[in-house]
Amino acid sequence: MKVLVVGGGGREHALCWLFARSATVYCAPGNPGTAQVGTNLPIPVSDHRALAQSIREHRIDLTVIGPEAPLAAGLADYLTSEGLTVFGPTARAARIESSKAFAKQIMSRAGVPTAASRIFTDLETALKYIRTHPEPLVIKASGLAAGKGAVVCQSRAEAQQAASEMLAGRFGDAGREILVEEFLVGEELSVLAVTDGERVLVLPPSQDHKRLLDGDLGPNTGGMGAYAPLSIITHRLIQTIENTVLLPTLAALADQGAPFTGVLYAGLMIDPSGSPNVVEFNCRLGDPETQVVLPIARNPLLEHFWAVARGESWRPEHCPPDKAAVTTVLAAPGYPDSPKKGMPITLPPEVPAHTLLFHSGTASGPEGTLRVAGGRVLCATGLGPDVATAQAASQRLAAAVAFEGKIYRRDIGWRELARARAS
Ligand code: AMP
Ligand code: GLY
Repeated sequence: MKVLVVGGGGREHALCWLFARSATVYCAPGNPGTAQVGTNLPIPVSDHRALAQSIREHRIDLTVIGPEAPLAAGLADYLTSEGLTVFGPTARAARIESSKAFAKQIMSRAGVPTAASRIFTDLETALKYIRTHPEPLVIKASGLAAGKGAVVCQSRAEAQQAASEMLAGRFGDAGREILVEEFLVGEELSVLAVTDGERVLVLPPSQDHKRLLDGDLGPNTGGMGAYAPLSIITHRLIQTIENTVLLPTLAALADQGAPFTGVLYAGLMIDPSGSPNVVEFNCRLGDPETQVVLPIARNPLLEHFWAVARGESWRPEHCPPDKAAVTTVLAAPGYPDSPKKGMPITLPPEVPAHTLLFHSGTASGPEGTLRVAGGRVLCATGLGPDVATAQAASQRLAAAVAFEGKIYRRDIGWRELARARAS
């Protein structure tokens, strides 16, 4: 089989790495990492026509769309209308991520537990609401903001400032509509579910680390690292998540004329009583979650994607993982606000045992050099029988990569390590 992965980040490198085990892989536009396992097609994700042409030219069987932007822009719709086989939701269904206001409406219809929130387009009304609600509050841009559009505000002054900045255009059109949301306490989880719109295959849940610095301090980012599995996950919790979150949401989307196929990502807060509340939905695999979930998932994912994309009947089966993975993101100095780019990267001559190095924001420079080309540069995944061993492997690889100003967390997986120590 020939597969095209659309995108060019760490998630897409992980997808290409997995698919290359059983298929011929193409990636558009890809990055120097995807070029090691497949063929890069230098086509921007926004050029839908050129992508369709290239898919035909190379006789590609299946196209898997990685990032949210092309999904929200209707790439899956366009390729399907051209008679091509695509894994990924339509633009209508992708609104579950591209409009937080729409996601809240769907959750309210479906009775899915989530934080109470109000939507505003007018600053005065938003400020008035903030003045009468207890902190902490979360201020969010409704549209796509590369994972940086949510600000957790400990004080009213901070909330007022965040609301003012967003409505003044800090995130462009994405922040013309904002949500002011109640703060949820608990433990955050990323649940990725492959779905044909009716059934779900829940992949091993993972935990992202959104904050820039160790100890979960500093600003929110697109994600600084992730690990899986979590010992708090039981079969019963997965069933609760399916029955109270995933299946009702899919039913409400279908009801609204937006049936969802692809990967539905539920960002959940598990409250102290063990119940899941939705923080956000995404219409795709998570990044960097994919870089830990794919290496440990035991399901034949390409077969599932193929069956869903073709509308064939399929039987999702639950396969708990039998090992652990930790990924540590290596970010450029200045990330997330203004990452510095262009510096040369030195990789270790050999990737250490039990590790995988996924490229996110890298580019090939002159004479075979590798350069920093994005905020998140590389993801160092470590594997092992448990999270502690996987974290040590991930850290060894993270330390062995060199570029000027490299930033990375030393504590990815700390919650799981604390649980292991306490038990
Ligand atoms: P989002 O852009 O909605 O994914 O939010 C980014 C991050 O902000 C989440 O992953 C959480 O860590 C945090 N966050 C967002 N909403 C809430 C909330 N209502 N309560 C607590 N933390 C939140
Ligand atoms: N890691 C969070 C996301 O992919 O949105």
